[in-house]
Amino acid sequence: MQRTVKIEASLACANLKNLERDIKQLEDAKIDYFHFDIMDGNFVPNFALDFTILGVVRELSRTDVVCHMMIEEPERYIERAAAFGPEFISIHLEATRNVQRALQQIRDAGVRPGIVLNPATPVSALQYILDDIDLITVMTVNPGFAGQVLIPATLRKLADVRKLIDAEGYTHIQLEADGNVSFQNIPTMIQSGATMLVGGTSSVFSRGYTIGEAVAKVRELAGPRTVH
Ligand code: DX5
Ligand code: ZN
Repeated sequence: MQRTVKIEASLACANLKNLERDIKQLEDAKIDYFHFDIMDGNFVPNFALDFTILGVVRELSRTDVVCHMMIEEPERYIERAAAFGPEFISIHLEATRNVQRALQQIRDAGVRPGIVLNPATPVSALQYILDDIDLITVMTVNPGFAGQVLIPATLRKLADVRKLIDAEGYTHIQLEADGNVSFQNIPTMIQSGATMLVGGTSSVFSRGYTIGEAVAKVRELAGPRTVH
């Protein structure tokens, strides 16, 4: 089976002064998803986008949204995020004591649940929640900041997650790489089994390219992926 790799634009890396223009260019480039980072200054030492901006984005565009919650106890905000009708809400495995319940809460709100692993979190933590998720994100940098360098061990982790979901028969689960998804790193990420790529300052919003050119280049490098 061939599966087309999905490309996301990380809106935290867009030009907020010209958000409407960037969104229009991303739509013209037929981007698959907007990746929407929400940070709390606690789970990660930074702040990013928030629900007010998510409302603006939803007013400007019908493009599907992946809401990446980098916040402690994300269960407190699932209802609010779900009200904006994203395709996915992703929470961090490290951010809540009751991961399975929080994932169920997302499903109950009519949204597809995603789980995110920080670089040091082992793959084995996924083993008993495979029924509860439609998306696994491997952070390929530590979360919180754009413009960081990929941590090499996370490429092995992508491959290990791919092995787990294939071996257990959960091939419908998307596998996303987030962090330093650069033109250089994309081919290895795809070989390691990624099916969704978060394009930030390293690719979709890379200097020297228009958004249209950058998305086309990501798409060309990602190519179709064969899933057995
Ligand atoms: C955090 C964000 C960033 C984003 C930045 O979850 O989603 O990691 O990918 O992109 P780069 O690493 O290309 O600046
Ligand atoms: Zn993210």
